[in-house]
Amino acid sequence: MNEKILVAPSILSADFSRLEEEIIKVDRAGADWIHVDVMDGAFVPNITIGPAVIKSVRLATNIIFDVHLMIDDPMQYIDQFASAGSDIITFHIEACISPDDIIKKIRQNGKKVGVSIKPGTELSSIDKILDKVDMVLVMTVEPGFGGQSFMKEELSKVRELKSRFKGYIQVDGGINKETSVEAIAAGANVLVAGTAVFGQEDYAQAIREIRG
Ligand code: DX5
Ligand code: ZN
Repeated sequence: MNEKILVAPSILSADFSRLEEEIIKVDRAGADWIHVDVMDGAFVPNITIGPAVIKSVRLATNIIFDVHLMIDDPMQYIDQFASAGSDIITFHIEACISPDDIIKKIRQNGKKVGVSIKPGTELSSIDKILDKVDMVLVMTVEPGFGGQSFMKEELSKVRELKSRFKGYIQVDGGINKETSVEAIAAGANVLVAGTAVFGQEDYAQAIREIRG
């Protein structure tokens, strides 16, 4: 199988004082998507960026913005993240009461839908909505911070997904040129990487190495 492997650098590890420049640089370096980590200080113990920042950097490139919402009550903010210029909106199953309503809301905004599960969450928690989403994001670290170690045991979820889900299977957390090999072998086709891209001098080489 020669499935295309997509690399989505996470701007969480970019230099925020030059965010626009970093996005342009990583786009030119061959990134497929830009992964935007949104944290609210409630769902996860860290606070990052919101729709206003997405809106202002959106104009820098045409690259796909893959927005990972690590926030409580995502329903309340879907419209704002959509109109700020997100292309794919991923919510956490642990953060919502009615996933069907969130999916509907994201679709009404004309965006692609992703659902994410934390390491402690069973794959069965998303069984009922699997046929309604474009992407499943399997977290390979506890969400909240960049630079953590890859949790290899989460790949069993990727393996199972591969056998019964035809959309994007994304892994996020601790991805580098070594762990990406394992993730791809398990069936992942979208690799998020923060530190392993923005922590390198040469973004193009880093992306190539992750893509494998
Ligand atoms: C963690 C975020 C990840 C993180 C990845 O909560 O969802 O996207 O930034 O960073 P690295 O690649 O450094 O593990
Ligand atoms: Zn993420």
